[in-house]
Amino acid sequence: MASKTVGTLIRVDSPDAIAGAASSRIARVLVDAIRERGHASLALSGGNTPAPTYRALAAHRDVDWSKVEVLWVDERAVPADHARSNTKLGRDTLVTGARVPEERVHPMDGAAADLEGAAADYERKVRRVVPPDASGGPSVFDVVVLGIGDDGHTASLFPGSPWVHERKKYVVAVPAEGAREARLSLTAPVIESARTVFVLAAGSAKAGPIGRVYAETGSLDETPARILRSAKGAVVWIVDAAAVPAAAP
Ligand code: 6PG
Repeated sequence: MASKTVGTLIRVDSPDAIAGAASSRIARVLVDAIRERGHASLALSGGNTPAPTYRALAAHRDVDWSKVEVLWVDERAVPADHARSNTKLGRDTLVTGARVPEERVHPMDGAAADLEGAAADYERKVRRVVPPDASGGPSVFDVVVLGIGDDGHTASLFPGSPWVHERKKYVVAVPAEGAREARLSLTAPVIESARTVFVLAAGSAKAGPIGRVYAETGSLDETPARILRSAKGAVVWIVDAAAVPAAAP
């Protein structure tokens, strides 16, 4: 199957090396954004991979964190102090260490009884806090940090979900499925519009889904991370050796 890298692939030796490679590049994008536009915006994913990167990023004093709007890519339907909360992850590993002013921190309301209402509220916040480009389209984040699931999901856009194809809403409420709790998630139009998307992945289980993103043909329904093929900005994969797909050029 013909394939080409979607963006730039940074291969590191081990999962532990992802944090250094990712945090230095994310910090550079944030510093450049602040220099060019006076502010920056960052959206955080959850999962097991990004915590060391967020901790390393918090230590970057070259970033003026008072000028960085910190938002989230997705959130689980749990309270903000729950062990599975992406808000808790981001606060514990980045926000506290970087001393991001509270007025710059914009968590999703995963604990809302009305998740649809919470999604609409967050969309209004994204539109207010993160400016669109000159064409007036979706909000343009300077940095979006993503992971990729073993099943090919990204954000909380899961295989078979109709929200993978959502083009009007920026934030959606994703119903619970089996043991997976309900979620809030940014949608493809916002993710695609980011100036730089960083995808962090470690382990051999990621090689297959990453390869399905690279493949010339494939289905969004099967591999929602294929939305990255429509990214308007830069896509930077920072992956350990085990996660590099066999087809990677
Ligand atoms: C979440 C994440 C999700 C994550 C992937 C990869 O809330 O779970 O946003 O999209 O990025 O599941 O997770 P790992 O980093 O654990 O591989």
